[in-house]
Amino acid sequence: MGKDVIILGIESSCDDTSAAVIKNGWLLGQATANQEVHRAYGGVVPELASRAHEQNIVPTIDAAIKRAGISKEDLTAIGFTRGPGLMGSLLVGVSFAKGLSVSLGIPLVDVNHLQGHILAHFIDEKGKDNRHPAFPFLCLLVSGGNSQIVKVNNYNDMEILGQTIDDAAGETIDKCSKFMGLGYPGGPIIDKLARQGNPDAFVFNKPSVAGLDYSFSGLKTSLLYFLRDKMKENPDFIEQNKNDLAASFERTVVDVLMNKLTKAVAQTGINRVAVAGGVSANTKLRQAFIDKSQTDGWDVYIPPFSYTTDNAAMIAMAAYFKYQDGVFCKLDAPAYSRVTI
Ligand code: KG4
Repeated sequence: MGKDVIILGIESSCDDTSAAVIKNGWLLGQATANQEVHRAYGGVVPELASRAHEQNIVPTIDAAIKRAGISKEDLTAIGFTRGPGLMGSLLVGVSFAKGLSVSLGIPLVDVNHLQGHILAHFIDEKGKDNRHPAFPFLCLLVSGGNSQIVKVNNYNDMEILGQTIDDAAGETIDKCSKFMGLGYPGGPIIDKLARQGNPDAFVFNKPSVAGLDYSFSGLKTSLLYFLRDKMKENPDFIEQNKNDLAASFERTVVDVLMNKLTKAVAQTGINRVAVAGGVSANTKLRQAFIDKSQTDGWDVYIPPFSYTTDNAAMIAMAAYFKYQDGVFCKLDAPAYSRVTI
């Protein structure tokens, strides 16, 4: 038996401050501070986010370590989100991780936030089924900033097969909510309304892009013009049709995502398929994966809801795999606002 590897993960890329402790791949404890301050502005305000991270980071890390039932001297290494994300938010976590690693005299491991979302599929947790995909597998990574089909060859070896050439799926759904005068973030609101709506009520043109890439900006604009025209005829159009509008638009986005993913499965011959990122919380997208397992025999991996949003458990998990490969980070490593897998 080798020595236990206990990693503290720190996540601060956007508006959640999260810390988690992973021991040999098992989650021991996690604490997350959400920021309600942005709700009033209809989107994340970067300056407010970094200030809130400053306030939250010490109590959040303290709470995670206590929940894990360890002391900070038990830690083997610190993993942190280096990017992509909001620069001011990232800097809080990056600086804190560096300071803590120096004070404890333990290694520092930088994590790509997007890889973290994918590697959340390997977290072991008491009371969960803990099914992990075998390599290679495909992962549909869908969040507010990204929509990608990734081929995962190994924990630290991933390649992008296709990605959005403009907007991300999450951003598109958020805009749908905004155009309809609903709240932020739009994803959960549209999801809830759609459950009571008819997905066949309205038809939106699906974008046509070559290969495995996505495009959502045209779809977004077509919804805007459609609503504008309908509201001219009937000022109550949105209010009277909001469930059907949400269901039809959501269904279009999910169809676009699944059509390209189906193409990727056919091209690669890999039918082990996972989904990750904020949009993987979506009811219809999760159902589409289950349907594919039944109709096409896909071996599907859908994350628990707790790993769909930003969380530090996935960062600690990704850091654990890099630690095992002996890949560490230097103290002068900068944060990256933009970085690919
Ligand atoms: O991965 P994430 O938490 O943050 C980053 O973008 O990095 O993803 C946030 C996105 C937002 O666009 C949000 O509206 C969307 O995920 N989202 C959803 C749902 N829950 C969150 N979209 C559709 N249905 C949901 N239930």
